[in-house]
Amino acid sequence: MSEPFFEYASCYEHEDGRVHLKIDHTIKVCRIMDELTAWLGLDEHDRFLAHTVALYHDIGRFEQLRQYGTFVDHRSVDHADLGVQILKDGSFLDALDEEDRRIVLFAVENHNKYRIGPCDERTRLFARLIRDADKCDIFRVFACEDLNQATSTSIEQIKDDVVSDEIEQMIMAHRPIVKEKRKTGLDVWITFLGFFFDMNFSKTMEIAREQGYYRLLFDQIRFHRCQDQIDRILQETERFMDEQLKQKKDG
Ligand SMILES: [Fe+2]
Repeated sequence: MSEPFFEYASCYEHEDGRVHLKIDHTIKVCRIMDELTAWLGLDEHDRFLAHTVALYHDIGRFEQLRQYGTFVDHRSVDHADLGVQILKDGSFLDALDEEDRRIVLFAVENHNKYRIGPCDERTRLFARLIRDADKCDIFRVFACEDLNQATSTSIEQIKDDVVSDEIEQMIMAHRPIVKEKRKTGLDVWITFLGFFFDMNFSKTMEIAREQGYYRLLFDQIRFHRCQDQIDRILQETERFMDEQLKQKKDG
């Protein structure tokens, strides 16, 4: 099932070394998705459909990189919208019936938006699944892959940076970070912590909490101007997570 994806992606590999980052990310998101859908007890067909969404959610990244030389959407193109176009133009989803194809396209299109667009409950489930599985692996990308690629920042520069008040307020209000409101490099880092306020399933929150990638970089740095602020933000985020996970266990 995944062959057409790998065939397609490998065509871009010789053009740019960064292509392998997205292939690797896709493989890991597929794994998390499988774990999540098994945990939810979805039937075989829906597990397959969710896996298909995971496999193709970032298909737009390769053309984005080729055409614009960047993964930064606001400097190029919305990679999810581009992905939908590529899936519609290609034969990747030909084996699916029309309804399943519609669900995959909707989930891909909505995997990176601030909120999921209007849709029926079943379609919404697949959009929620990919948003969670994707976020889970983005924490790893943030902590382990080339920082400049992922965030356009460097550790040297971030040490002296600050978090904008408005961004800190979003964390304290348990709201995901609005990208357009970010002013500093550290605001971009805080965006990842904001992911926890937009998670749909306790399973993915648990995976991310256990992996601990979300705080790895913050722990490596002594922030010259805003260590107190970072401590507060991490503390509030973890308090929120623990509260959510405890509620799930109790409930
Ligand atoms: Fe994406």
